[in-house]
Amino acid sequence: MRDAQESRPAPPVHVAIIMDGNGRWAKARGLPRTAGHRKGVDAVRRTVEAARELGLGYLTIFSFSSENWRRPDDEVSELMGLLRYYLRSEIAELHKAGVRLRVIGDRRRLAPDIVRLIDNAESLTRGNTALTLVVALSYGSRQEIVQAARRLAEDAAAGRIDACAIDEAALSARLFTHDIPDPDLIVRTSGEKRLSNFLLWQSAYAELVFVDTLWPDFTKHDLEVAIEEFHRRERRFGATTAGGR
Ligand code: IPE
Ligand code: IPE
Ligand code: MG
Repeated sequence: MRDAQESRPAPPVHVAIIMDGNGRWAKARGLPRTAGHRKGVDAVRRTVEAARELGLGYLTIFSFSSENWRRPDDEVSELMGLLRYYLRSEIAELHKAGVRLRVIGDRRRLAPDIVRLIDNAESLTRGNTALTLVVALSYGSRQEIVQAARRLAEDAAAGRIDACAIDEAALSARLFTHDIPDPDLIVRTSGEKRLSNFLLWQSAYAELVFVDTLWPDFTKHDLEVAIEEFHRRERRFGATTAGGR
C-alpha cells in the first residue's frame, strides 16, 4: 500500500501569485495603506518559504505593475523603499536557502540603486536550484508583448528572421519570461477576479484560483488549499480527456 506521502500528486511546477489586498487590509484596521504593504512583505517571506517546502520549481509574485506607477507619489516611494529593504535584508537568506532570484519588468523606470541591487542579487543567486523566485516588478504583460513584437519587427527588417518563420516560439523567446516555463496555476488574493495585465500570453492554459484572503493574511495553508484546488481541476489543453470522453 502506498503511504499518503507517496500518493500525493506532484506539485505544480510554476505557481504565480497576484498579491492583492494590502490597502484593504490596512483600511479595515484604520491604518494607512503603507502599513498593509509592510505586512505584505512578511507574507512574501512566508510564501517563499512555503513554496520551497512544497517543492515548487518556480514562484512568481506580482509586486508592482506598470500601472501602479499611477499611484500617489508617497505610496510609490514607500513600495520602492520596501523593495530596497527586501533586496538588502533577504538576499543572503534566500541565497543560503538555494533560491535563485529573477526580476521581470521594465527596469528603465526603476531607480539606479534598485537596478544595481537587482543585478547583484541575480548574479549572486544564478546557480541556485532549490526554487526560482520570479519577481514581477514594473511589469505589464501588454508592454512585454509589444516590446517582443518590436524586436521581431527589427529582426525581420534586418533580415535576421523571415516574417513567415515567426511563430509562438519566436515571440516567447523575446518575452521577459523566455527561460521560465508557463505558470500552471495563477492565484489572486483579495477576492478580485481579473488578471490586471499579468502574464497574459503565458497564462493561456494556467488554472486560475481566486481566494478571498487579503495578501497580508496569506499563509502556507492558503497556498496548499489553492494547490489542492489545482489538483482537482482537469487540464485538457484543448484535447479530450483520456478515453475520449
Ligand atoms: C497589492 O495591494 C499591492 C500592490 C498592488 C502593490 P493593493 O495596494 O492593491 O491593495 P488594495 O487592492 O488597495 O486593497
Ligand atoms: C495588481 O493589483 C498588481 C499587483 C498585485 C502588483 P492592483 O491592485 O494594482 O490591480 P487592480 O487595479 O485592482 O486591477
Ligand atoms: Mg489592489
